[in-house]
Amino acid sequence: MAIKGNPIMENVSRLNRTGLNGLTQHGTDGLQTGSFQVVAQQPINYTIEEVEGLLDPANKTLLRGVVPDSFPSLLSAAPAQPGERRLVAIDDNVYRLYGKQIHQYFSVNGVSATIVPLPTMEANKDFELVFELARRMEEFKLNRRKEPIIAIGGGVCLDVCGLAANLYRRNTPVIKVPTTLMAAIDASIGIKTAVNFDNRKNKLGTYCPPLGVFIDRSFLRSLDPRNISNGAAEILKMACIKDEDLFNVLDEHAEQLRSSSFQDKEASVAMRRSIQGMLEELEPNLWEHVLCRLVDYGHTFSPEIEMAALTHGDELLHGEAVNIDMALTTQMSYARQLITLEQRNQVLNIMKRFRLPMWHAVCHPSLFIKGLTDTTKARDGQQRVPLMAGIGNAIFVNDITHAEIRSAACVLLAIAQQADQVHSNVVPVRSATPALQLVA
Ligand SMILES: NC(=O)c1ccc[n+]([C@@H]2O[C@H](COP(=O)([O-])OP(=O)(O)OC[C@H]3O[C@@H](n4cnc5c(N)ncnc54)[C@H](O)[C@@H]3O)[C@@H](O)[C@H]2O)c1
Repeated sequence: MAIKGNPIMENVSRLNRTGLNGLTQHGTDGLQTGSFQVVAQQPINYTIEEVEGLLDPANKTLLRGVVPDSFPSLLSAAPAQPGERRLVAIDDNVYRLYGKQIHQYFSVNGVSATIVPLPTMEANKDFELVFELARRMEEFKLNRRKEPIIAIGGGVCLDVCGLAANLYRRNTPVIKVPTTLMAAIDASIGIKTAVNFDNRKNKLGTYCPPLGVFIDRSFLRSLDPRNISNGAAEILKMACIKDEDLFNVLDEHAEQLRSSSFQDKEASVAMRRSIQGMLEELEPNLWEHVLCRLVDYGHTFSPEIEMAALTHGDELLHGEAVNIDMALTTQMSYARQLITLEQRNQVLNIMKRFRLPMWHAVCHPSLFIKGLTDTTKARDGQQRVPLMAGIGNAIFVNDITHAEIRSAACVLLAIAQQADQVHSNVVPVRSATPALQLVA
């Protein structure tokens, strides 16, 4: 195999040699002392590609397999040959819309595809679905050296399939095809997999890189507007804390981006900038050993809000909960004079134009305080909350007080009611948040 000039394969070759990596380096010391040191590295190398016409049978992208004997598993350039097989796990809604095309894609290419539609919705995002897919892999007698799983769907589907693939035979390569905006710019491109557990979001999961990620924006044409806005919230996140140019694109084109389901030229710019920014943050910290993470913007209070809304029976989508968190912290930034009034209003205005909620019936300072307490625990005892400091810039703070939360919540509720950006189909907001009226 040609390895010269290919840093990964050179690395593999180096890792496979004895004496460089771990035990043999220490000679026979261990035999004398009874103390052994194992040192190894796992390189990460995966591809994220924007693709047009992914389901066009003439486009061979989806047929790409695994480079033989590669470590980590690498995506081959060569497509599967007629007679080869693929296991395709797919969100059942996506299957209803694109199933015929997918069957045709593989059959025209002579590849025998077993397609497994799964009910991958947030309420089902648990281990049962992981087991279900693992059983299907077992029935398929999947050869993980040659036959990557192809996962097609939104973030739930990709998280569940990523976890199942990672657990099956301790790592089966998976190709991810995101079909929602949220999955395209966030859930598919990192290495985290997860399912919900014990009524907690994403509590069980792994870090497992995909073999490849193929983003075809045309899938977004069939996505409903609410899910478009849901993904837009994560793009707005990147804009607020990292990318002023991206912020300006959103500010200029929010309505058009939403109404075109991210199909126009500006959408391509917005998505690429967002993915680039996200990857710049993820790549040096893939295993999250550094706990001050800019990408955690909007993710301090939101897990608590999201789970409370789910229990309440008036579900919030992930990006919607993130948006409420961002609206709250935008107000905090303004109160701390980290952003101007004009900048605060600009952010809240983009949220409004994307029709993202700034409040929900379950919202209350006590819920936000609980969210901060839980997140602080997860961040090893410090708040490490990213706050906007100007447009496209952020700082981390550790001194948010309960009074500050109450005050920001109070202002936000008033703004959200005035802007009609309260998400509540079940309980009238005023009766759901009585204490808040008193704090003002
Ligand atoms: N692993 C990560 O790093 C990461 C990052 C962000 C979010 N997530 C996870 O992603 C999940 C949210 O993902 P999501 O917003 O994609 O939700 P989702 O997967 O539930 O999809 C939303 C809805 O859209 C439908 N759908 C999917 N593609 C479609 C299409 N092209 N046309 C029409 N309908 C389509 C789905 O059936 C579903 O009903 C959450 O569970 C979240 O925890 C994970």
